[in-house]
Amino acid sequence: MCGIFAYLNYLIPKKREEILELLVNGLKRLEYRGYDSAGVAVDSAASKDISIIKKTGKVALLEEEIKSRSNELDVSGTVETHCGIAHTRWATHGIPNEVNSHPQRSDPRNGFVVVHNGIITNYKAVQTFLEKKGHVFESETDTEIIAKLIYHFHEQHPNYSFRELVENVVQQLEGAFALCFKSKYFPGECVATRRGSPLLVGIKTATRLATDHIPILYGKEDPPPSPAAEADSNPEHRPHGRGEFPTLPRTGSTSEFEPLEDKQVEYFFASDASAVIEHTNRVIYFEDDDVAAVKNGSLSIHRVRRGGDDPHKREITTLKMELQQIMKGNYDFFMQKEIFEQPESVINTMRGRMNFENGTVTLGGIKEYIPEIKRCRRLMLIGCGTSYHSAVATRQLLEELTELPVMVELASDFLDRTTPVFRDDVCFFISQSGETADTLMALRYCKLRGALIIGITNTVGSSICRESHCGVHINAGPEIGVASTKAYTSQFISLVMFALVMSEDRLSLRQRRQEIITGLKNLQHQIGEVLKLDNKVKLLAEDLYKKKSLLIMGRGFNFATCLEGALKVKELTYMHSEGIMAGELKHGPLALVDETMPVLMIVMRDPVYNKCMNALQQVTARSGKPILICEEGDQETMSYCQKSLEVPKTVDCLQGILTVIPMQLLSFHIAVLKGCNVDCPRNLAKSVTVE
Ligand code: F6R
Repeated sequence: MCGIFAYLNYLIPKKREEILELLVNGLKRLEYRGYDSAGVAVDSAASKDISIIKKTGKVALLEEEIKSRSNELDVSGTVETHCGIAHTRWATHGIPNEVNSHPQRSDPRNGFVVVHNGIITNYKAVQTFLEKKGHVFESETDTEIIAKLIYHFHEQHPNYSFRELVENVVQQLEGAFALCFKSKYFPGECVATRRGSPLLVGIKTATRLATDHIPILYGKEDPPPSPAAEADSNPEHRPHGRGEFPTLPRTGSTSEFEPLEDKQVEYFFASDASAVIEHTNRVIYFEDDDVAAVKNGSLSIHRVRRGGDDPHKREITTLKMELQQIMKGNYDFFMQKEIFEQPESVINTMRGRMNFENGTVTLGGIKEYIPEIKRCRRLMLIGCGTSYHSAVATRQLLEELTELPVMVELASDFLDRTTPVFRDDVCFFISQSGETADTLMALRYCKLRGALIIGITNTVGSSICRESHCGVHINAGPEIGVASTKAYTSQFISLVMFALVMSEDRLSLRQRRQEIITGLKNLQHQIGEVLKLDNKVKLLAEDLYKKKSLLIMGRGFNFATCLEGALKVKELTYMHSEGIMAGELKHGPLALVDETMPVLMIVMRDPVYNKCMNALQQVTARSGKPILICEEGDQETMSYCQKSLEVPKTVDCLQGILTVIPMQLLSFHIAVLKGCNVDCPRNLAKSVTVE
């Protein structure tokens, strides 16, 4: 998904070369999100104009382009105060090309430039209005209307501050956005805002910051009704060229807050912390409708409306994330590193929560809500992709230990069905990024209906974190590879710990709980054992990488591994793969099986072992030659297959954690053998912030 990075240095002399490097480097840190073009805007060396450099393809190509224009950009020149903005675009409106890349501009002289993450849903209406005013559009993007609209307001109200202009612009926008603006009319200033798409600012000063928060400045009155907002469903009523957009009353600039003792300061705006962390760990996460402006080196945060329970300040958060955590270390790929990190990441998920000595589990983030959760009508687990699979993986245990009905839902389908939700429902929103638009929309839908909202995320400060009533942070550490791996096992464990908390006072479940707790204790070591299969899995990948399809079959606690394994194979290797519930074989999928069809089967010695064996025999009877994932030392089962991967035995409900790892490794090795982009598979993005 798109990425924003902006850098402002105030009273700190920097060579243009350094600034450009910093911007490009910021974009590189965001590459993992997936993108198809990139661009930057900086002050032009020769005039007061702005230079925009854009390139289709990778950030490395943009870097080359910048180098090739180093004379024109006067890279050796120094600037004391400067604002540069940068972007990686993932095409939504218009094909990936240079014109459609960001920054988008207001006019041929680049009066205002903007970078945008998200989608503007009413862009057509605003475009029509602006075209009637004489603006000529050059791109196919929804973003260009933003650059042109701010220019329009500036022409109408030349005395408005940069921040006031942006406030007027966002009043007219519908959809989801994070925006960062730069203007030749406001040199050395930057204005950023968001609604439904993440944005934060990192602050770096030579001395310690004089404050731990930034107060919010509010508009004096409510804004006049916005025609765009009023005419939500009726294009007839949208701005059409006869009238004007009403503008907000001016709030003046006298109350700008100066939070910094030290005048020299650097600001790093970014759509996620991985682009900022190498510069500073002091960040502010913006909320929807915050308009943040840097002017004369001071940051102010303004809101047009005073919302119901808005806090009056934004805290400066100290990030604990280390740069090395987001680097590849000794691995060739982030995904590979993340697979091999799982012995540690599962421990981090349990740290401070599992007390193996006395068999207790504490989830601090939801502790106070447990009595309410125990009184609920049902549990709903909602997510997308891999996060959804973690819900499938733990559903059976949740049903067993809570004795509550448990619904497991794909967020998009849940919303399509306008599923009935009640006040006494407890809804879990599972998301690695915490920003997935479908999951976030489903969260808001359930919140509106009065349900208790629990976030299960890996990203502190993410939208799902902030909008949940309570939650569990899975603590898996930054996951950079687009394909989710360690987040899955940590989500899995978080949900298992929740089931344990819910059943702590159930005498009849004491033994079952104890075997699960022991299983969790042994996981780190057992995952280490599974990872030793790497070479064996690589050999299997060599047999499979030229095949067209791979069927993955299993049932019970291991069905989720089939779904998750197939998703990994599809997204990483572009090969067809299907996770098949073994009980469904006779109802259709068996027709696919013959001596040529690659089949992988998961058969563990758990309560559905006999049924799995039945499926195995059905496959071999059709000349299928399944590869087996089975329990260590299970010679009897292995005698039915030519190739097998043995994983250590754990308690049935945790076995899926150990069976999914060979699938992660297999998809990884097939992808490498096929020459696919492991960390950024085609057409995919790490954080899917559009529905
Ligand atoms: C698959 C994958 C995706 C995500 C899905 C949800 O490897 O990464 O299927 O799981 O897009 O993302 P989050 O968990 O960030 O909500």
